[in-house]
Amino acid sequence: MNTKRINPATPASQTPQIGRRHVLQGIAAAAVATPYFAWSPRSIADELESDKTPIGLIGAGGMGTGNLNSARKWINLVAIADVDSKRAAAANDRFSEGKADVYDDYRRVIERDDIKVLHIATPDHWHTKPLIEAMLAGKDVYCEKPLTLTIEEGKLIRKVQKQTGRIVQVGTQQRSTFPLFVKAMAIVNEGRLGKIQRVQAAIGGAPTSPSIPVASVPSELNWDRWLGPAPETDYRFLESKGNRPNTNGHYEFRWWYEYSGGKLTDWGAHHVDICNWALKLNGQTDGPIAIGGTAKHPVEFKDGKPVQNDRYNTATSFQFTVDYPGGTQMIIRNDTDNGAMIEGDKGRIFVNRGKLVGQPVDDLKDNPLPDDAISKVYKGLPMEHNERSQHWANFLYCSREGLEPISDVHSHMEMLNVCHLAGISARLGRDLKWDDANEQIVGDDQANAMLGRPYREGYAIEM
Ligand SMILES: NC(=O)c1ccc[n+]([C@@H]2O[C@H](COP(=O)([O-])OP(=O)(O)OC[C@H]3O[C@@H](n4cnc5c(N)ncnc54)[C@H](O)[C@@H]3O)[C@@H](O)[C@H]2O)c1
Repeated sequence: MNTKRINPATPASQTPQIGRRHVLQGIAAAAVATPYFAWSPRSIADELESDKTPIGLIGAGGMGTGNLNSARKWINLVAIADVDSKRAAAANDRFSEGKADVYDDYRRVIERDDIKVLHIATPDHWHTKPLIEAMLAGKDVYCEKPLTLTIEEGKLIRKVQKQTGRIVQVGTQQRSTFPLFVKAMAIVNEGRLGKIQRVQAAIGGAPTSPSIPVASVPSELNWDRWLGPAPETDYRFLESKGNRPNTNGHYEFRWWYEYSGGKLTDWGAHHVDICNWALKLNGQTDGPIAIGGTAKHPVEFKDGKPVQNDRYNTATSFQFTVDYPGGTQMIIRNDTDNGAMIEGDKGRIFVNRGKLVGQPVDDLKDNPLPDDAISKVYKGLPMEHNERSQHWANFLYCSREGLEPISDVHSHMEMLNVCHLAGISARLGRDLKWDDANEQIVGDDQANAMLGRPYREGYAIEM
């Protein structure tokens, strides 16, 4: 079993754990021995509920509040930071009866000594900086995916996580969906597909928008702080009948390279993660060596940058092939059924949020997985039943016990490197060779310059 203790000395809650620690270790041991179809779902939930974790929220938008809802039985929300005062107030009313402290500046949450556990659910361009500052301040963090906008940011996060030993769960909750993704990984891990030759992540493309006019910033929104490390630019907004409004702000930030990687990181963070997890379980320990393919953008690009700034600019369609030593390939595409296809020399399976199918799945009727198959791929950690709640239970449990959670920063960065390389290849319109050991693009200075990004003055990451 590969349960990994990463922070033995300082459980995040810092509260006496006598009794509970032993009970939970007992549960972990029990989970190891529990058949994959009959884990005891209530046990961690009861423990976490009887001793709720004080938590600070940074980013009270769609996912921040959705996540709190999944974890609400187990947490006390004591502080909220959002640069949109209406959103912060709404979250306060919904989760804390208006009693949480509310801030415009997230650093006020990080500096509080009474909060050891944070949830970061800001837009993608605002993940790395608060996450690093939080780890350096001794906090454990559940941070939404994708953790970074660039490969350089990923290096920094891994370094600081190693240095501080903090517990960081990435919000890739598919890693805690037992009947679908985790079961798929167990099938791989038990060798039922044989040697994997090809994996495919189908993740959909980004939408287009019309020209979005410059608009006045709503009084509740601090646009300058929303932009933070991203380049200074006007706020844009356009009502869109029956749909979400078009904007470069709330939610729609995902369709702008200034704040996101588009679908390549938004959904790549989910299905490329599953494909990469399968490859690792199957013994493909080396990273990629090359990536090639094509992508279509809604605006023209020059030197890797969009030439227009009034509409969405991330890739609407794409197909990339990622090569690994030994001939294994990963395909990343927008145009087939959303999900992950995993193909080995003995069979193939397809998994998404609605189904897990393929002959090796049908074969389980006559040849079930061993009792410990799920537990083995779930790092021997205790299991709660429901998808989103389980991912939170896993985080809160690992934070208390000093264990590496199921979606750790290292595996996340490994696969996010692939998503970012696809993004660089898309923007430059050419194939890339990759030196995984040194995390450098081979023989392409312009592409290597895109491994990092400049931060706006006043928003550098301070270490
Ligand atoms: N795991 C999943 O399945 C999943 C699903 C949806 C979104 N997400 C992720 O969650 C994150 C948020 O997405 P969303 O759809 O909730 O976006 P959103 O725009 O609805 O919410 C983001 C919130 O962060 C706030 N914010 C921006 N800058 C801030 C700052 N400096 N300090 C504090 N608050 C700040 C915004 O005002 C907004 O309220 C994204 O990274 C996204 O990829 C994950």
